[in-house]
Amino acid sequence: MSHSLAPAWLVSPADPNALHSGIWPASMHRADDGILEVGGVPVTDLVEEYGTPLYVFDQDDLVARARSVQRAVTDACDAHGITGSVYYASKSFISGHVVSWINSAGLGFDVASGGEMAIALAGGAEPGHLEFQGNNKSVAELEQAIAAGVGCIVIDAPIEAERIQECARTHDVRQKVMVRVNTGVHADTHDYLATAREDQKFGLSPDEAINLVASLREASHLDFVGLHSHIGSQIFRTEGFLEAATRMVDAYQRVLLEGESLTLNLGGGFGIAYTEADQPMDVGDLLSAIVDHVADLTSARGIPMPDLAFEPGRIISGPAGVTLYSVGVTKPVEVHNGDDVATRLYVSVDGGMSDNARPALYGAHYSTRLATRASNAAPALVRVVGKHCESGDIVVNADYLPGDVHPGDVLAVAATGAYCYSLASNYNVVGRPPVVAVSGGTSTLMVAGETVSDVLSRDQGLSRGQG
Ligand SMILES: Cc1ncc(COP(=O)(O)O)c(C=O)c1O
Repeated sequence: MSHSLAPAWLVSPADPNALHSGIWPASMHRADDGILEVGGVPVTDLVEEYGTPLYVFDQDDLVARARSVQRAVTDACDAHGITGSVYYASKSFISGHVVSWINSAGLGFDVASGGEMAIALAGGAEPGHLEFQGNNKSVAELEQAIAAGVGCIVIDAPIEAERIQECARTHDVRQKVMVRVNTGVHADTHDYLATAREDQKFGLSPDEAINLVASLREASHLDFVGLHSHIGSQIFRTEGFLEAATRMVDAYQRVLLEGESLTLNLGGGFGIAYTEADQPMDVGDLLSAIVDHVADLTSARGIPMPDLAFEPGRIISGPAGVTLYSVGVTKPVEVHNGDDVATRLYVSVDGGMSDNARPALYGAHYSTRLATRASNAAPALVRVVGKHCESGDIVVNADYLPGDVHPGDVLAVAATGAYCYSLASNYNVVGRPPVVAVSGGTSTLMVAGETVSDVLSRDQGLSRGQG
């Protein structure tokens, strides 16, 4: 039976200690002593060494996910005799360790700023395996990309073509470029995550893109290599991807010259499970459906099949990460609805929207479990909230925890590997938490946590006063 304040999809679990498969990192399990273990490391050890809040990555899971996407794209494309490439979307989470893991799995990198590019290059990525995109790349960032020799720049507006041409001329190179097409496809996802509706900032309409391609072909220092689209993120249904692919093949057919070989980059956006209600498709099935669809369309039109590229982020980094928090306060709150009164247990933790902005940004849902003990107490509906001065500072909107959850407990929140650290802030002068990797029974610090002194040290008013 479910609680009256619980969302319709959330079922009270028979055992609130059990971990639903597909939401948690592959190696995560509850050991006989009730403590969660990930990468062979008990979370009690992680908490003792690094404190909370703490981002934890199951290294082997992240690498396995990267490899499986790479294999799925290669297999689907090999079946049609074309080249398939995968660029990891760095915006989901990037650090020096992640660069070497993604490199070892053979993927390239989609970078969306000079900063992401700098981490990828400093971490050892081949410049030629980088694809640089964004709707407002600065001239300095374009300069940085061309000087480094990035594989491809995705043009988002005609003025960028001029800037890239100028910069490539200065460096005396021909820069490979793609054009981002706004397919107008309405992906089945949250409004702010859908990036290919007409009334938004990314890309050019197919007609505008085709006009731009004509001028790119005339430019002395640009090498037009294909078209790019990305219809949004956290998408579960295939229809949006197939419709976007159809519109991209239309545009491709209109720009293709006799004997030319072009690439269609069809973006990322493959959904993952944050709660048991999420039922993502197998990514291999999804990718082969998209690739086969492009093959069918091009063969029906009697045109050569383009090479294909994809740029997934969340599906690689998301489920491999969890965040650990300490509970500071628990508070039952009575909620009145007419004559009915129901109680929701608020569980306040030592992080919040500064380390995970997604619930506040998108109304995203997450799942949680007690991390350092199991309990026989009956499940209670909880809302896990942060420590920030916003009522929207929610970490887990609704889940069931054992009803004896209390201050001092540690909670694990699932699937926080993507778009949590990368969207983190210093709101309320809270330092960003450290990030660690676990594998084979050992933990490695990936990114040091920020202290309040780190934040203070940037404040010139304070450092001057203390000088
Ligand atoms: C252009 C582009 N490519 C790829 C991605 C990766 O999306 P996801 O992490 O959902 O796969 C994004 C996400 O915002 C994006 O904007």
